[in-house]
Amino acid sequence: MARPKIALIGAGQIGGTLAHLAAIKELGDVVLFDIAEGTPQGKALDIAQSGPSEGFDGAFKGTSDYADIAGADVCIVTAGVPRKPGMSRDDLLGINLKVMKSVGEGIKAHAPNAFVICITNPLDAMVWALREFSGLPHEKVVGMAGVLDSARFRHFLSLEFGVSMRDVTAFVLGGHGDTMVPLVRYSTVGGIPLPDLVKMGWTTQEKLDSIVQRTRDGGAEIVGLLKTGSAFYAPATSAIEMAESYLKDQKRVLPCAAYVQNAYGLDGMYVGVPTVIGANGIEKVIEIDMNAEEQAMMHKSIDAVKGLVEACKGIDNSLA
Ligand code: APR
Repeated sequence: MARPKIALIGAGQIGGTLAHLAAIKELGDVVLFDIAEGTPQGKALDIAQSGPSEGFDGAFKGTSDYADIAGADVCIVTAGVPRKPGMSRDDLLGINLKVMKSVGEGIKAHAPNAFVICITNPLDAMVWALREFSGLPHEKVVGMAGVLDSARFRHFLSLEFGVSMRDVTAFVLGGHGDTMVPLVRYSTVGGIPLPDLVKMGWTTQEKLDSIVQRTRDGGAEIVGLLKTGSAFYAPATSAIEMAESYLKDQKRVLPCAAYVQNAYGLDGMYVGVPTVIGANGIEKVIEIDMNAEEQAMMHKSIDAVKGLVEACKGIDNSLA
């Protein structure tokens, strides 16, 4: 059977890391697309040359021609600009919206059957716009944010408890911005919910609150340290986890920016919710029970995403 084809639209920091991870995991043949002349070709060649030592097979191609993504099974989109220190993800909206238009049209023309994972920020608005521009079914276009935000939360929790990250589960929902919703009640260490761990005296509410805030600021913390761009290792790893679940029909339960209809009081918008990803794309949106405080946080986050979508419509009339 032919290897799956993975098209990476954007061959920058995240795109290159995605290609390397896809190679090492032997997920399929990789096409790196970018408008920067030479960058996708150079990275494709460099990664291919790591094959003999790492021991993987696969074809790696760099291109600036959308025709080369033809028939891709998965497209992962990182095209656009990242944040610099002092910028919020929302500051990227105008410039990255134009990029989503060209990418959406390219995918529509050449890879209309792909499962599309958007990473470009501001995420929830960009995945919505990408879906609009591409016209693909909603269940085949999804944004990567919740897996990353949850991974950051899990990492910080593992440090606090001094336990393996593998034994920490966590859910971060809502928009991928300052209003994201880390759900403490649904996060566990070895299956024990965090509020119970406070009762057991293993941590304090204050410490949990500061971990929640550090999670919300997780992207900005890295931007502040790197100074020239934003995080790329963990974002790429998170998107690969989603792509693998689709390609192998794993039916992983992963929080993603998915199109939500008739759940969470929504009638059709993209926001971070727990989903099941399998061979059909987003196979299920899981609506969890929320208390009043959690609902208030979720609604605040949803309103922030709605504001960004309206801003997109104001910039590009074809979206209105
Ligand atoms: N089509 C294709 N590629 C494009 C386009 C376009 N219209 N415009 C820009 N690019 C390419 C750039 O040439 C660059 O190589 O997108 C790439 C982006 O790479 P980086 O600048 O290294 O950014 P990266 O860190 O990979 O982040 C990409 O993901 O997490 C988000 O906020 C982040 O929006 C940013 C995106």
